[in-house]
Amino acid sequence: MDICGLRSFYSLLSSLNRRLEMKVALITGGAQGIGETTARLFVKHGAKVVIADIQDDLGQAVCEDIGLDKALFVHCDVTIESNVENAINVTLMKYGKLDIMVNNAGIVDDGKLNIVDNDTFSFERVMSVNVTGVFLGTKHAARAMIPACSGSIIMMGSISGSIGGVVSHAYSTSKHALVGLTKNTAAELGQYGIRVNCLSPYYIPSPIAKNYINDFPEKYTKAYSNLKGVTLDENDVAKAALFLASDESRYMSGHNLVLDGGFTVINPVFGLFARATPNE
Ligand SMILES: NC(=O)c1ccc[n+]([C@@H]2O[C@H](COP(=O)([O-])OP(=O)(O)OC[C@H]3O[C@@H](n4cnc5c(N)ncnc54)[C@H](O)[C@@H]3O)[C@@H](O)[C@H]2O)c1
Repeated sequence: MDICGLRSFYSLLSSLNRRLEMKVALITGGAQGIGETTARLFVKHGAKVVIADIQDDLGQAVCEDIGLDKALFVHCDVTIESNVENAINVTLMKYGKLDIMVNNAGIVDDGKLNIVDNDTFSFERVMSVNVTGVFLGTKHAARAMIPACSGSIIMMGSISGSIGGVVSHAYSTSKHALVGLTKNTAAELGQYGIRVNCLSPYYIPSPIAKNYINDFPEKYTKAYSNLKGVTLDENDVAKAALFLASDESRYMSGHNLVLDGGFTVINPVFGLFARATPNE
């Protein structure tokens, strides 16, 4: 291989290694868990990130650990429109643009199995963070992306947005709603070159899932993902978010990318094939 061939080989290698070079991403709920892991991976791939969260000390510490030349923390409660508007404005002031919006912040309520025991306050609280928060994030991201005629918006969904019976009524309702919001905003924003996709992981034993795991250890430790020898973790979700954020998915919009090892395509009551068991 001559010197020119070598150069283009190395340039190809570096573009493969750094898939978000020159991009700017805002990640809500990025102070811990999936959001934090995604922020760290995006920076590794060349992006500047803004972490928007209600946990100020933790969010600031994560940014300092990443490096303040690559990561910035903004206090933002996604249920308050002025906070979301401010987070986008701070991003535009600091970096001049917004390429990627990850609507990741989410909460779960107590696992009350009987709807009769569910209260309106908890239901509305979940809807407010998981749906209204994502609506506001998408609205203000679109405001920044429309003039640039490009952008990738990612909603953090869940397998409970595809099937029933795996988590509380409020959480399941909220994640189903995100699939609808994804499709509708993708339909509108395509005319501006903006892609909108939902990423729906299986469960990970992170802080958000701890209530359920503690309340129903028998069910969750026996959870069945259909893939032998693989357990989903935050890095898998971050890598899928990287794909949706990068130009590799440039023709994908309105899609719900389910990351579940085949969990949602199988009816466990009937099956011809042998099933994988956890930790096999
Ligand atoms: N952990 C799982 O099993 C799992 C599975 C599928 C989908 N998800 C989804 O992934 C996303 C992240 O979950 P996680 O497991 O990292 O949870 P997590 O609890 O570790 O992190 C959630 C983050 O969101 C922030 N947050 C909560 N309310 C907020 C608000 N009003 N405004 C701004 N930030 C707020 C929290 O401070 C926290 O940093 C959520 O949307 C969740 O529903 C999680």
